[in-house]
Amino acid sequence: MPDTSGNGMALRRLAQGLADHPTTRFFLAMQRRFSDCHMKDLIASSMDDQRRMTVAGRTVYNFGSDSFLGLDRDARVQQAVARGAVQWGTHNGASRAFYSVEANDVAEKKLAQWLGVETTLIFPTVTLANIGLVPGLAGKGDVLAVDRLAHNSILEAAKIAHDNGADLRIFEPCTGAVLQGVLPEKPEGGCVVAVDGVYSMQGTTPPLKELDQVARARGGILYVDDAHGTGIFGDHGRGTAMRELGTLDNVLMVGSLSKAFSCMGAFVTCTEELKVLLKMSAPTYVFGGPVPPPYLEAVCVVCDILMSDEYTTIIGNLRTRIDRLIQGLQAMDLMVLGNESPIVSILVKDRTAAMQSGKWLFDHGFYVQSVTYPAVPINAAVLRIQVNANHPMEAIDGLLNALGQMRGEIPLPKASDDALACA
Ligand SMILES: Cc1ncc(COP(=O)(O)O)c(C=O)c1O
Repeated sequence: MPDTSGNGMALRRLAQGLADHPTTRFFLAMQRRFSDCHMKDLIASSMDDQRRMTVAGRTVYNFGSDSFLGLDRDARVQQAVARGAVQWGTHNGASRAFYSVEANDVAEKKLAQWLGVETTLIFPTVTLANIGLVPGLAGKGDVLAVDRLAHNSILEAAKIAHDNGADLRIFEPCTGAVLQGVLPEKPEGGCVVAVDGVYSMQGTTPPLKELDQVARARGGILYVDDAHGTGIFGDHGRGTAMRELGTLDNVLMVGSLSKAFSCMGAFVTCTEELKVLLKMSAPTYVFGGPVPPPYLEAVCVVCDILMSDEYTTIIGNLRTRIDRLIQGLQAMDLMVLGNESPIVSILVKDRTAAMQSGKWLFDHGFYVQSVTYPAVPINAAVLRIQVNANHPMEAIDGLLNALGQMRGEIPLPKASDDALACA
């Protein structure tokens, strides 16, 4: 039926307006410019236990999964989701400001037990945790220092905090000395320093110890988004901040339940006193829907795995694969970023080479992510490889071989050239 209401025209005008927005204009131009190797918005029609996926009829090893410990394929985790769906149904049914099914409370306590902290508060995603928490923690009269390379959701949260009157200080590079330079000697209000625990595109980590010392000296706290450190770093996977600082007594740590946990959601560590207040101050908690209960059942199962001796085997499998990949890449004289995270990025610099490399590798059986500006700084494009505990060793070796072959066709920067340039 023809649309006689005029809505069709209004929606077209809206689309035109959106297409003229600087961000979408940029992405549309990227799509056109790299139409033969764009490799975004892919649809996978199958996934298997060997971390293979099928996209547009081609089956490739997936080196783009955040499920680092491979627990998405674990029968105990899958069964917990199924059990939770039967017990609780598929949804909490309301904002948790009204009520929470008990699985929320149990999962929050279980997370606290695993981490050895007083308590935790669960959010549906890390993005919603950051957007909800940061503006509440730093308002009018407070100082909010944010690492320029922090995740987009922290930077967006910082804009809200700034609009609410917080004194926002973006700093770069992320070092104790630079932080010291941007923080006031004696902040009159609160002081929050927000950083990532692991940079998601590079797999590198900021110097949390230095940052903590500076924040403490100025009476501030660290807010660490440890989305990619959760379950990976530290004793029993308790995260980057726990590993570096040994305690979270001056830290609010946000962890992910969607990456190494292979479930869904996020949590923030806190005290019981703070928890009551964080619930009230985070609009994304009050006004949004929560994690579906089946995933909360699975979160408890994953906590048990992380606390058990089995974790040593799983993380050992992951580390063996990370080490094999990094050693192979270094032997090829490639510029490798990160040296211990399952996110291993090759610095390609040039965005065309990064886009073409991603497509070349895909055509030869390996999916890795080509990451360009604005996800990384301009001229710092990377090939982002994500290693998994259940990647077969042949997949790691196959990727290394493919990269070696690819360099004959697409030259990548050499680590030794860069070292010479810096000398
Ligand atoms: C550091 C960091 N924070 C937040 C997020 C977003 O997490 P979520 O998907 O739970 O919103 C990511 C995603 O990769 C991330 O790397």
